[in-house]
Amino acid sequence: MPSTLFYLSTVFAALTSLVVKAAFPPKIYGVNLGSWLLVEPWMLPQEWIDMGGQQCDDCSQCIASEFEFAKAFPDTVDAKFNVHWNTWFNQSDVDELARLGINTVRVPLGYWIVEDLVDRSTEFYPRGGLKQLRRGLQQLKNAGITAILDHHALPGVQDAQQMFTGRCTTDVEFYTPHNYHRALVWTAVMTALTHLDPNFDSVTAIEAVNEPIMDATQTPGYGDFQKHFVEVVRAVELALGVSVPSYEDNYNKLPFSTNITVSFNTVCGQSIFDSEVASVLMDSIPIILKIATEFDLLPILGFSRKPGSHAEPLFTNFMDINWQHNNPSNPADAAIGPQIYDNHLYYSFEAYLTSICNLDRIQSDAALGNTPLYFGEWALPTQFQATDEFLFKWADAQKLAYSKGAGWLFWNFKIEKSQLAGDMARQWSYTEGVRLGFLTQDPSKVHDPNVCAPYINSSTATTTASYGSSR
Ligand SMILES: *[C@@H]1O[C@H](CO)[C@@H](O)[C@H](O)[C@H]1NC(C)=O
Ligand SMILES: *[C@@H]1O[C@H](CO)[C@@H](O)[C@H](O)[C@H]1NC(C)=O
Ligand SMILES: *[C@@H]1O[C@H](CO)[C@@H](O)[C@H](O)[C@H]1NC(C)=O
Repeated sequence: MPSTLFYLSTVFAALTSLVVKAAFPPKIYGVNLGSWLLVEPWMLPQEWIDMGGQQCDDCSQCIASEFEFAKAFPDTVDAKFNVHWNTWFNQSDVDELARLGINTVRVPLGYWIVEDLVDRSTEFYPRGGLKQLRRGLQQLKNAGITAILDHHALPGVQDAQQMFTGRCTTDVEFYTPHNYHRALVWTAVMTALTHLDPNFDSVTAIEAVNEPIMDATQTPGYGDFQKHFVEVVRAVELALGVSVPSYEDNYNKLPFSTNITVSFNTVCGQSIFDSEVASVLMDSIPIILKIATEFDLLPILGFSRKPGSHAEPLFTNFMDINWQHNNPSNPADAAIGPQIYDNHLYYSFEAYLTSICNLDRIQSDAALGNTPLYFGEWALPTQFQATDEFLFKWADAQKLAYSKGAGWLFWNFKIEKSQLAGDMARQWSYTEGVRLGFLTQDPSKVHDPNVCAPYINSSTATTTASYGSSR
């Protein structure tokens, strides 16, 4: 029998328009939705050629990124990408992931999904992605799958010669005030949508930057950016009536407004946050209102701020401190409220099992406050021709290692199966890995819980692993 309290909270939840955020599952068993809203042509070589793209050894020298594609085909790029967005990830894929027990997805996104951030005189990207993101998030929500919004390709490009940044180039400009600012406006917009748009109900975290340059001497200002990133998320939440740890006093004192322009201005007028955060919030208002108009969200915006709402603050999310070297800033120093960390291990040398079975990354991160830690990208690639027998062990050992932290997300949920792609899916596709048996039907299981026994306490432990992307 429902209690009075239950009844009242139900009525209250119906009155407030803020989306109630779910927490992360107790253990993350996840996949990346790579090459959906941010295409990396290497993962779908035949489709890319069929769309009009090209393949070349140096990806900056041909049409091998979204940027070059949009530049080459300004009139047809939006329609061509829309076909891709509808076919690469749709309800059939959501059904498959749900059937396989996947409870979380990481959604790689480019900054251009917030279309007003693009300088169309020098930057070229498809339009229409946000509508698709809303569609996909709604399907995930209906399947009970949690989503991480991953800012995977940053304004100005965060790493050289990588398809995953949306543009292959040696001209890396992300680590500059102008582009940090654009990334923060993106963050404000995504935070607002997460709390205001019911389609975003599946979103639990926003990840600031995928794979920044590993050498911290090449990422000036990144520590300040991390602090601003968290402050922008919390400032938007405060403006929308989400009570954030550390700001309860401000929350209780702020005058109430259901008008987003008024409530953002109110928060910025309190000198709680610095001028950069205020400027980011101001720049985000017209963009949020434009998106709200386009998707008919105005009735929601009109009731944006409800004191005492049940909405939970988002998890802010960073790559872990040990992703970088040369005296990196510690993202734990930026935390206000819930925060979670992400690490990616790609192995490029021998001693795979010895390395993974003695992995100490969770402990070394925890010592620096970087906890909880999930492993946001992993797969089964090897620098040698791996036998099936090896891949069974390699999958088990990685799952066991990563499950000692907050869990894992495989890269990728799928890979194209074609003559041109060869047998890439065997080691890079989750669904193919399950079909071939390397990955268990139930993601919480392994074939052999003792797979690591012969490899533990070896003298070569952890010294031969190379931490970094092999792509
Ligand atoms: C999803 O896209 C695939 C093509 O990749 C297509 O075969 C399938 O019918 C689509 N599913 C739905 C539900 O639209
Ligand atoms: C919100 O407030 C702004 C600034 O006072 C005003 O221009 C705008 O019309 C208001 N919007 C609504 C929907 O009332
Ligand atoms: C590894 O070392 C620990 C503690 O030193 C010990 O308890 C454990 O039995 C050892 N494992 C193997 C496989 O040698």
